[in-house]
Amino acid sequence: MNNRPIGIFDSGVGGTSVWREINKMMPLENTIYLADSINAPYGEKSQNEILQLSIKNTELLIAKKCKLIVVACNTATTNAIAYLRQHYDIQFIGIEPAIKPAALYSKSRKVGVLATKGTLASSLFHSTSENHAAGIEIFEQEGKGLVTLIEQGDARANFTKQILLKYLKPMLEQGIDYLVLGCTHYPYLIPVLEEILPKHVVIIDSGKAVAKQTKAILNRYNLINTKNASKNHQFFTNSNVEILKSFLVPEQQQSQIKYLSF
Ligand code: DGL
Repeated sequence: MNNRPIGIFDSGVGGTSVWREINKMMPLENTIYLADSINAPYGEKSQNEILQLSIKNTELLIAKKCKLIVVACNTATTNAIAYLRQHYDIQFIGIEPAIKPAALYSKSRKVGVLATKGTLASSLFHSTSENHAAGIEIFEQEGKGLVTLIEQGDARANFTKQILLKYLKPMLEQGIDYLVLGCTHYPYLIPVLEEILPKHVVIIDSGKAVAKQTKAILNRYNLINTKNASKNHQFFTNSNVEILKSFLVPEQQQSQIKYLSF
């Protein structure tokens, strides 16, 4: 049982930022990662479409005998995890924008959130903001187009930087001191964000917190893999294998990265 893989899915390559934290924290675990890149971006879809795609990914990971599923996508978590938890007999770990720590540590009491339209529109996002950021001004910005650019391998392109400058200018003018990355694709924008943001603005994402929570749940259900001689990481994409590989340097040496129609 404990040797079974952790299943992870995202609308595309972004969830590899979460996979990396999981692998760092639990190097003995086997994993299966699904990049549903053919259907990216999820953030532009209706809640029902996001739900149907999340069901499809979940059923594939269950068929592949995963012991737990990490929904490594804020958009899928905020729109579908409640349904998934109700309908499938497996533990799910979700990811949500890290509003809570940002609200806790912000000195200016002003926090920016960059996320997809689907996440910003969800009721889960709003209840989290209300519950954990009372007295904090939240400046929301939809990252329109960013997921597509990252999926194309253009995270560091100059035009991506120009779009980010335009998106972040209003919240910077308002005096934010924390920027919450509410999409698992966005950590790949950090090199460009560091060029744009003033030094005192802290960038925060939820990857490490998800890895910690995954470990806690595996422990609670006695599912931790304690001895693994032959690590096995399988990555599947229903789009461009080379792009997915480019997000997995240097881990690709020890992984199988394949095309799969799903
Ligand atoms: N990585 C997904 C997230 O965390 C991107 C969503 C999308 O495909 O728009 O929200």
